[in-house]
Amino acid sequence: MNKEPKRYLITAALPYANGPVHIGHLAGCYLPADIYTRYLKALGKDVLFICGSDEHGVPITIKAKKEGITPQQVVDKYDGIMKNAFKDFGINFTYYGRTSSKTHHDTAQASFKKLYDKGVFKEETTKQYYDEEANQFLADRYITGTCPRCGNPGAYGDQCEKCGTALSPTDLINPKSALSGAVPVLRETKNWFLPMGEIQKTEQFKHYIKRFEDWKPNIKGQCNSWLTEGLQSRAMTRDLDWGVPVPVDGAEGKVLYVWFDAPIGYISATEEFLQTDKGRGDLAKWWMDDDTALIHFIGKDNIVFHAIIFPMMLMTHGDYILPLNVPANEFLNLEGDKISTSRNWAVWLHEYLVDFEGRQDELRYVLTAIAPETKDSEFTWKDYQTRINSELVNIFGNFVNRVLVLCDKYYDGLMPTLTNELTDEKLLNAKQACLDQVANSLHSMNQNLGAVKLREAQADFINIARAGNKFLADTEPWKLIKSDAESVKQILFVALQICAKLAIAAEPFLPHTATKLKGMLNANDLQWSNLFNENILGSNHQLGKAEILYRQVEDEEIQKQLNRLEEIKKANKLEPKPTETLHEVKADISYEDFDKLDLRVGKILEAIKVPKADKLLKLTVDLGFEKRTILSGIAEYYKPEELLGKLVTVVANLAPRKIRGIESQGMLLMAGNDFGKLYSVGPDLEIEVGSVVK
Ligand code: MF3
Ligand code: ZN
Repeated sequence: MNKEPKRYLITAALPYANGPVHIGHLAGCYLPADIYTRYLKALGKDVLFICGSDEHGVPITIKAKKEGITPQQVVDKYDGIMKNAFKDFGINFTYYGRTSSKTHHDTAQASFKKLYDKGVFKEETTKQYYDEEANQFLADRYITGTCPRCGNPGAYGDQCEKCGTALSPTDLINPKSALSGAVPVLRETKNWFLPMGEIQKTEQFKHYIKRFEDWKPNIKGQCNSWLTEGLQSRAMTRDLDWGVPVPVDGAEGKVLYVWFDAPIGYISATEEFLQTDKGRGDLAKWWMDDDTALIHFIGKDNIVFHAIIFPMMLMTHGDYILPLNVPANEFLNLEGDKISTSRNWAVWLHEYLVDFEGRQDELRYVLTAIAPETKDSEFTWKDYQTRINSELVNIFGNFVNRVLVLCDKYYDGLMPTLTNELTDEKLLNAKQACLDQVANSLHSMNQNLGAVKLREAQADFINIARAGNKFLADTEPWKLIKSDAESVKQILFVALQICAKLAIAAEPFLPHTATKLKGMLNANDLQWSNLFNENILGSNHQLGKAEILYRQVEDEEIQKQLNRLEEIKKANKLEPKPTETLHEVKADISYEDFDKLDLRVGKILEAIKVPKADKLLKLTVDLGFEKRTILSGIAEYYKPEELLGKLVTVVANLAPRKIRGIESQGMLLMAGNDFGKLYSVGPDLEIEVGSVVK
């Protein structure tokens, strides 16, 4: 779509209703989606912002099991908590739905039925993993194992969250039931598969992926690398009892795959909204017209589903438009570690509000300033404090406050009347420099907002305040008032126009502040379209009352948060629980079982990165009697040159396996800890290559 879209349908990933919301969620997609939507609305565009709770899938049933309540109770509890947290932080959805709603069940079933009737699915009886202790099939997150692509030992049955790849349980190396820890057995079952490999070859899909060209490099790169590898068929049904029942004969006891039903939630939530607000048109207007720009905001672990699988569903269905852009963010880390719900390593929004009441915009500001738009980024409390104190308080808040306090003092809060232009050359230059800077920043902010570069856009916004602050510092109206009251009128008049611009431009980023500042200027009806006018507020306009926009973040407040995290760290050390089942010792094996392993000391002769695979190294390992090619998912932990000459323990009789078209002839023994670090388990003495390890 090269022409200007007629309307925008913005979605943010439906969060699983299995826990409260943390800063990683907010920074990952809800905040950027909200900022972008607010911007489009400010421009007067026709836009819907759709989200809702994802209430099916294994994450819900696992949580229910943990809490000892039913899945329904889980989703009822967290749907409310999440909805409120979003509201508190000003995430202004047009509609927030739930995938347990009747409309959603109907829509998801109808979509499945349509694909089924069109013969899109391949019906196949295949062997799937089954847990004999728990008596159930192990779909998706019920099964974990090592990712065949990147070596992550905690990959799920449907996806590796580390490299983002979509998996099937049978792809996992060393699969294990997440329910009982048991090694699963294979059992036959019938499911309906989306033949992604075939769809990939269609003209329609080839045409669709041209859109990737305009997408962020990190997303385009991932998608293209999956496409180059070739896509596999994927089951769209599951042998589970929690979810949307599969609406065809012979599928009793089966539900739709959660990644089939959840994205349809965008459609059903739109439908529900349109039922309540007839004025905004019908579903066809929003979902079936090429003039709608459909844009999915998501976190990077959702890329494959939104960029490839959902579009294939929409495409084969036939009625719907395809996403125009999928601006996915990378991950946000917290104080040096991955955010983790199970380790309680997070800043929870509801907890933040207890300690920082009324300071939602401050968190929005920091999360946008460090948004993981192109790579993973890091939230630290120290940085939170610095950014707020030096940018929001000292630049933005301080500027606005000084201007309003001076106007109150000199003119009783009435905008000054202008008689003539500044005459002093120094003052005139300062004014021109300020106006130029403001104009440049506004222009750049607008461009960056349009390009969804929100981090840069917000920096431009602060630069407007920075220019205003400098203008005051250069002209010092509080000194000038005694000698040249006429020029002070000029100066404050200009400064007040900048305050008005800030009030307007703050809206997408800092909506609570924008409202407050408009109140302080007594100008609640300021519009985005006023932004580029030189003068917004007229002479004699009565201003409102000056208030403090932001207060300093004190050291004690930060220390309290750091202490809390320290406590959590300690508790986690005493009782490490991130990969619970990994800590369970496996069932006993006989000596004969062990003796089947042929472990050898090997020496790494060569290590090179596998092209287009971030995690894989291709190693040449000398086993004494022969040299082997071994692929290992350790590129994140070791630089190739660090490995040269290193002795490692090798499983020498592991059946060869093709990974990314290269045959891997063995495996290195590695130890992984709870924090995702990996260490080679090798002999620490110089010992002959080829020696037997036992
Ligand atoms: N619930 C998923 C997650 O939290 C996201 C679902 S997005 C949707 O990762 F498209 F399926 F709705
Ligand atoms: Zn992986």
